[in-house]
Amino acid sequence: MTKFIVPKEIFHGLGSLENLKGLKGSKAVIVIGGNSVRKNGVLEKTQNFLAESGIQSAVFGGVEADPSIETVLKGAEIFTQEQPDIIVGLGGCSAIDAAKAMWVYYEYPESKLEELVAPFAVKPMRNKAIFVAIPSTSGTGTEITGLSVITDREKGTKYPIVSHELTPDVAIVDGELCASMPAHVTANTGLDALSHGVEAYVSNIADRYNDSLAKGSIDLVFKNLTTVVQEPDNLKARQAMHDASCMAGMAFTNVWLGIVHAMSHQIGGTFHVPHGCGNAILMPNVIRFNSKATEKYTELAALSGKSTADEFAQEVSDLRASAGVAGSLKEYGIDEKEWEAKLDSLTENALKDPCTLFNPRIPTFEEIKKIYQACYDGTAIDF
Ligand SMILES: NC(=O)c1ccc[n+]([C@@H]2O[C@H](COP(=O)([O-])OP(=O)(O)OC[C@H]3O[C@@H](n4cnc5c(N)ncnc54)[C@H](O)[C@@H]3O)[C@@H](O)[C@H]2O)c1
Ligand SMILES: [Zn+2]
Repeated sequence: MTKFIVPKEIFHGLGSLENLKGLKGSKAVIVIGGNSVRKNGVLEKTQNFLAESGIQSAVFGGVEADPSIETVLKGAEIFTQEQPDIIVGLGGCSAIDAAKAMWVYYEYPESKLEELVAPFAVKPMRNKAIFVAIPSTSGTGTEITGLSVITDREKGTKYPIVSHELTPDVAIVDGELCASMPAHVTANTGLDALSHGVEAYVSNIADRYNDSLAKGSIDLVFKNLTTVVQEPDNLKARQAMHDASCMAGMAFTNVWLGIVHAMSHQIGGTFHVPHGCGNAILMPNVIRFNSKATEKYTELAALSGKSTADEFAQEVSDLRASAGVAGSLKEYGIDEKEWEAKLDSLTENALKDPCTLFNPRIPTFEEIKKIYQACYDGTAIDF
């Protein structure tokens, strides 16, 4: 027995932002990141659609990439002043995740970040406001997930707050919002979406509901990622990638991820490798390692007419290269001495990461270390 949790309403398709007109409420606070949503007119459109339903709106701007707890507290203060009954997270995942955490502090001002990361720590939400997520990157699937990642810069730690209470009420998946993404953000976030689909598909708690969403998302990424990197204004392909990210999000929020994420979280935190880039470098070797414990990669290989896990690993490498993303951690620019000095602690932390629990093959310390080293060197492991 299991359950499947996603937002109550998911509007998707080009122009679907317009569905904001159907929202019920009186006051919204819109949380945004940098200026891209101001420059491309999306913020203005959002405010106009809300106004058409009689909803006034205020804007909290300036959420940085990998949002900090200080930003979250500032935003929660604005929420307390403005008393919104709708929170809108608009932009990249950083803006949406920050908005989710601000929402928790608005509902429960006494919250403490260290405590919120414990299982079941988020109390029942929606006493003051509902949550609308409108992503402008196609990668994390935060519009679907019960997850918000907040950084404590003083401690140098990323805190994942995990609770289905944080699953947005409404998700709007409109590919038009993504056309302004620079090529490197498009590539990295698209490869993140691919890694969500692949890790959810082989999760040790996978089920057929999530399998079909994960497989569908992988197929879409293979068919559209190179196109959106090369033709940023191709809206049909942009919508396909946005749908892929959303579908992969539905799968992974229900069946979790594996050691690609467990290992990538460490190299992101230590060396600031962009999340999707780190995942793409790790994925082929993790596929080779996991393929001794699951047959499921052969089903993914079949999507492109291939038949083995090794061939699927190669397909992933080829897609990464065609999106212009580095092929090894060395090529990305991590200094060799620094790498050697940190390798043991990266390995230890990857083993402790909760995602490791859902991997189809539970690795040892030496195995993780071997995968890391091969991904640093850009070689293929043979287990
Ligand atoms: N909540 C989840 O489910 C989940 C899952 C995985 C990762 N994360 C977290 O998500 C964060 C990364 O989010 P992200 O990959 O969406 O990147 P991001 O939100 O940090 O955005 C990356 C950059 O792209 C810009 N940008 C975003 N959309 C744009 C657009 N349409 N046009 C032009 N510029 C645009 C942003 O301003 C920023 O400079 C990390 O903090 C990571 O830890 C969260
Ligand atoms: Zn990810």
